[in-house]
Amino acid sequence: MEIRELTKSDYFINLEHEYGAHNYHPLPVVLDRGKGIFVWDVEGKKYFDFLSAYSSVNQGHCHPQIINALINQAQKLTLTSRAFHNNLLGEYEKYITEYFHFDKVLPMNTGVEAVETAVKLARRWAYKIKGVEENKAAILFVEGNFHGRTLLAISASNDPDSNKQFGPLAPGILKIAYNNLQAIENEFSTNKNIAGFLFEPIQGEAGVIVPDEGYLKGIRELCTKYNVLMIADEIQTGLGRCGKMLACDYENVRPDILILGKALSGGTIPVSAVLADNEIMLTIQPGEHGSTYGGNPLACAVAIEALKILEEEKLIENSFLMGNIFRERMLQIQSKSDLITCVRGRGLFNAIVIKQFGENKSAWDVCLALKEEGLLAKQTHGDIIRFAPPLVINEKQIHEAADIIEKVILEFNYKTIS
Ligand SMILES: Cc1ncc(COP(=O)(O)O)c(C=O)c1O
Repeated sequence: MEIRELTKSDYFINLEHEYGAHNYHPLPVVLDRGKGIFVWDVEGKKYFDFLSAYSSVNQGHCHPQIINALINQAQKLTLTSRAFHNNLLGEYEKYITEYFHFDKVLPMNTGVEAVETAVKLARRWAYKIKGVEENKAAILFVEGNFHGRTLLAISASNDPDSNKQFGPLAPGILKIAYNNLQAIENEFSTNKNIAGFLFEPIQGEAGVIVPDEGYLKGIRELCTKYNVLMIADEIQTGLGRCGKMLACDYENVRPDILILGKALSGGTIPVSAVLADNEIMLTIQPGEHGSTYGGNPLACAVAIEALKILEEEKLIENSFLMGNIFRERMLQIQSKSDLITCVRGRGLFNAIVIKQFGENKSAWDVCLALKEEGLLAKQTHGDIIRFAPPLVINEKQIHEAADIIEKVILEFNYKTIS
């Protein structure tokens, strides 16, 4: 047996394996530096980052303006808790509510906390405003969703990897098929206790599933007709990822509750937000919900800067344009290879579906080969590879990245056929 010397990467991977919980299966690459659309591993090898920490690093790794805001604020005041006021929270609240045109924001930290907050708000609204009998409120979800890992979020999931043997699951949750307006109407028209319809406008973890045109508008109309809150989880799809500020903008619909996270901090610290108008937001009163870190001054300083950059650097427009070029390239590769069965996405939120090939080879093997060629991406559900680079990528870089993907796919194609 060949004995290979342990690399630096092996050392760090082994450390994680030995001392960390085994709740992830990362690609075998150990990163220690990032700048813009690139990351470097501990051996110094450079990679295109085509995951962007699941769309958290939309503004690019270590964006200097965001890092400056972080450092400046970190030297002044980082945390007060909400027991006291701080001089940045109100400024941030004004900034983000005007930015997204909502009356109020409720600041949280991780994405899933914001999802939990939205569900609590919807339930509270149902009891106080809609008139649902206490403890009867339901939230309607769609199959294939991903909203995070808390008990509520996994209760809403229909992925057994997510919720098997974690029961008992949370009550008050209904699920229907995605992209099916009739299924929504069937539920709304027969169940007066539905407080909210919570969904991703494009399903991310499910594999970048884009709904039919008219789905978002249809949801808006049905929610209005049946007095149900439309709750859009734009934690992954929002903030320019899909080529518009929000994925809901593709059909010009405004949800009643908007959930943001991830890129709201440009990938620096956990910052999430729930936005809604007064009628909904003011149903929660002091002492009824909160978080020690939610609305901390560091988060406020970083989030203002992260939002500013999206506009100043025209990242939404860039995402739209670069996304079109990228999909065009993927379609060209698909036309030369039968390994790719589907190309889909919007803006810089894209995926290809890989046919199983060779001896049980799958999207994971393609990701390993991409890594060797200098591009990092991660498979989801075994057969799908999501491509989501930072939105600062330019046309030349899109082509360089697409060349790498083409090389890897065609090499696999060749090996499989020959
Ligand atoms: C649509 C969506 N909602 C919620 C979450 C959970 O966010 P977090 O991991 O920050 O809790 C994610 C994370 O991937 C997500 O994609």
